[in-house]
Amino acid sequence: MIESAQMKNDTPLRTFDVETIRREFPVLSRSVHGHPLAYLDNGASSQSPNPVIDAVDDYVRRHHSNIHRGVHTLSQEATALYEAARDRVMRFINARARSEIILLHGTTEAVNLVAQSYARPLLRAGDEILITHLEHHANIVPWQMVCAQTGAKLVVAPIDSRGEVSVAAIEALMGPRTRLLACAHVSNALGTVLPVAQLVQSAKSRGIATLIDGAQAVAHMQVDVRALGCDFYVFSGHKMYAPTGVGVLYGREEVLERMPPWQGGGDMILTVSFEGTTYNALPYKFEAGTPNIAGVVGLGAAIGFLESIDRPAAQAHEEALLAYAHATLGTIPGLRVIGTAREKAGLVSWVLDGVHPHDLGTILDQDGIAVRTGHHCAMPVMDFFSVPATTRASFAIYNTFAEIDRLGASLMRALHLFGRGAD
Ligand code: ALA
Repeated sequence: MIESAQMKNDTPLRTFDVETIRREFPVLSRSVHGHPLAYLDNGASSQSPNPVIDAVDDYVRRHHSNIHRGVHTLSQEATALYEAARDRVMRFINARARSEIILLHGTTEAVNLVAQSYARPLLRAGDEILITHLEHHANIVPWQMVCAQTGAKLVVAPIDSRGEVSVAAIEALMGPRTRLLACAHVSNALGTVLPVAQLVQSAKSRGIATLIDGAQAVAHMQVDVRALGCDFYVFSGHKMYAPTGVGVLYGREEVLERMPPWQGGGDMILTVSFEGTTYNALPYKFEAGTPNIAGVVGLGAAIGFLESIDRPAAQAHEEALLAYAHATLGTIPGLRVIGTAREKAGLVSWVLDGVHPHDLGTILDQDGIAVRTGHHCAMPVMDFFSVPATTRASFAIYNTFAEIDRLGASLMRALHLFGRGAD
């Protein structure tokens, strides 16, 4: 048994108190431009708590080695930590088996893998891939690429002025040639929560495969892939308190079994000769090359951290923050929220009359407030709302109402700086 920081730090807190939570995140005590950091860019990448930092540190200091390759002690320890993290991911999303958890570099790699290994061999000219208008580029471009390779067609379900996608609108586009529905669980640009359970059910009843992009969902809500019934669910570690460069492809075993490997090399191989190669079993069939072992250890620790807190209470806290942010932004003259879906999670985007988002982001930064500005890798969403960019505040369990008050005050300062505030 390996005694590691990852394991030692798993004592459940089982409570939710934002100040206690904040003390676990060292970066939150730093200042930026003389102000306490208010980190509201969690949709891009969230911060890591001590259990994650300690687990990665402990791994690097005491256990680092390559996995699945050595009989020596360190290799055995690294392998045990890596595979323990896979088991945690399996439980975290309620997958049926560890063979269904493919550890990759992130959401983008996972979508590309499904596009190339699942869709490409299946698609014939005239077949259709169905997505929605609010997808992140990582859930658009891999499908465009595979359509170009196969002669299949990309079909895009519309959004409405609130930034919602209706089940009926998507169902209307499900036809006899639809092979796969790929959609976000939560929109990274708008915060819309999509009705994924209904969509998966609807697709399944028509024999259509489903991929859910959970990058913006897993940190904010409990995900149960078996209850959802989707074929694939993908997400990244770095938006759920883990390091960058690690992510997950969940796939139903019977679907993954039928798919050919995507990349060749390393762990995905059983035997190699110049006459032919045999492939490893799941999940290793899809894990070519030395992975981000430290990142996977960090991901396991991040899940341990999430499991140690009262998640329903954390979710309620985030929902209250989001409601408070909408109310606060509603008091700012000339501010328009982009994305007013009835069900939202994690973030709010807006434009402010007469102030370009990039200028606004710079002013907020001077006040110690980190937000994201730009098109958020969702240019079709920007086109739909006829804006070049938005400013986005995205929340995590450690954010506070006081930080949102500071955001409101800083927005008022920006208005005055641009000569748009009331005297
Ligand atoms: N996809 C990330 C975001 O929405 C980077 O900011």
